Amino acid sequence: MNAAIEISNLKKYYKYGIRGIAVKALDGISMSIGEGEVFGLIGPNGAGKSTTIKIILGLLRPNSGECRIFGKPVSKDAKKHIGYLPENPYFYKYLTGIELVSFYAKLCGMKSEKATAAAEKALDTVGLSDAANRQVGLYSKGMLQRAGLAQAIVHNPSLVILDEPASGLDPIGAADMAAIVTRLKNDGKTVLLCSHMMSEVEKLCSRAAILCSGKIAAIGKMDKLLEIDGRVRLDIDGADAKTLAKISEFAASLGANVVEKSAAKISLEEFFKRTVEAGK
Ligand SMILES: Nc1ncnc2c1ncn2[C@@H]1O[C@H](COP(=O)(O)OP(=O)(O)OP(=O)(O)O)[C@@H](O)[C@H]1O
Ligand SMILES: [Mg+2]
Repeated sequence: MNAAIEISNLKKYYKYGIRGIAVKALDGISMSIGEGEVFGLIGPNGAGKSTTIKIILGLLRPNSGECRIFGKPVSKDAKKHIGYLPENPYFYKYLTGIELVSFYAKLCGMKSEKATAAAEKALDTVGLSDAANRQVGLYSKGMLQRAGLAQAIVHNPSLVILDEPASGLDPIGAADMAAIVTRLKNDGKTVLLCSHMMSEVEKLCSRAAILCSGKIAAIGKMDKLLEIDGRVRLDIDGADAKTLAKISEFAASLGANVVEKSAAKISLEEFFKRTVEAGK
């Protein structure tokens, strides 16, 4: 698998105030996200997730380290292949949904007619067709979020970066968002998903990284991250309560059929809490 995003030893300090006080936002992070992968980037508030994303997008420069997109340094050309939903999307409120999304399509180099057709399709994908001719200023928070997603996918990018895509969405909207991410994955796109919704990340991502105070506290395959060391689970078909009590020794002799043997797991939510606690 080729790398869609390759980050090595990124460090980022922000300076603010007249004294130029420095905040260490990223403290040497490295990771590689393969093409076609849905990768979760999670961590507590202020961990450095949005900073990482902005560096990948070329919106911020790191103090040191390197970021490559599809094997090349971040450039204008590389950015054409990226769709981005910012964490707090802000749109010009007098444009209608269709005008807004067409505008972004044109920014990505599409001609007028093609841009309108692509915008209609993107708005349909995010469930905003009915509100396409309404001004964006009249949209609800969840509708704005959907419009943000539509602009992120309108140019059919190979890499889609979503910073808090489910923020402000109702449960149905969140499920719709998850379905769109699944569709992107099935279309072979790479998705970097940054979210505080652990259940979505657990369901959608094949790998994830947990950022804590600008460092990677854990990274790996979702299955592996959530395994409990040294424990296995037996899923046994046809066993009653009595059989279960004696299961470890007598399963075979009692005629119970062991159909699956897999590692016992904790939820991503629990793993997240433990990792953050351990890093304090
Ligand atoms: N422009 C800025 N100037 C100064 N400090 C900043 C700036 N942007 C971010 N920071 C600081 O950098 C750190 C990382 O911020 P970042 O926005 O990357 O976190 P995050 O993981 O995206 O958090 P959240 O989950 O709240 O969105 C925080 O301490 C934040 O205060
Ligand atoms: Mg953020």
